[in-house]
Amino acid sequence: MSKKTVAIFVVHPFGAVLGKDSMAELRTMANENKLDIWEDCAQCYSGSGYTGSSFANASFFSFGPIKTATALGGGLAVLRSPCNKDDNGTTSHEQELERVSTLASTMRRIQETKHKQQPNNVYLWRVVKCIALHMISQSRYLCAQRK
Ligand SMILES: Cc1ncc(COP(=O)(O)O)c(C=O)c1O
Repeated sequence: MSKKTVAIFVVHPFGAVLGKDSMAELRTMANENKLDIWEDCAQCYSGSGYTGSSFANASFFSFGPIKTATALGGGLAVLRSPCNKDDNGTTSHEQELERVSTLASTMRRIQETKHKQQPNNVYLWRVVKCIALHMISQSRYLCAQRK
């Protein structure tokens, strides 16, 4: 950790979600160093199974073509005022909620200006590409398959 560190970034690979106790420990460490916890949930979305840790400031989910739950693209961010954040008395719950709300507005503005909703034809093209890739991956002539 250095003076430039702003967050602890937790990745949950292959659906293996870090346990609650470990997240709580990280939260304590983050509080001591005034850091956020961001978690990468790109590989662990399973419907209502895991919706992010209450100890994280932000949880990011991805719905790309190779993810556990796919929409052939896109993602979402869950922003929250995490548990224990005000344990050290430096940040009140209200201040934290205001910070989350400001961050959410900024993200919404970026989405509206830089990453607008994609037109249907762009999404249709993505669907066609994914079907083609799926067919190639299933082809016995193009890909080696087990007997
Ligand atoms: C763990 C992890 N984080 C982030 C990403 C990137 O997600 P996206 O494709 O939505 O940018 C991936 C993509 O495979 C991933 O596996």
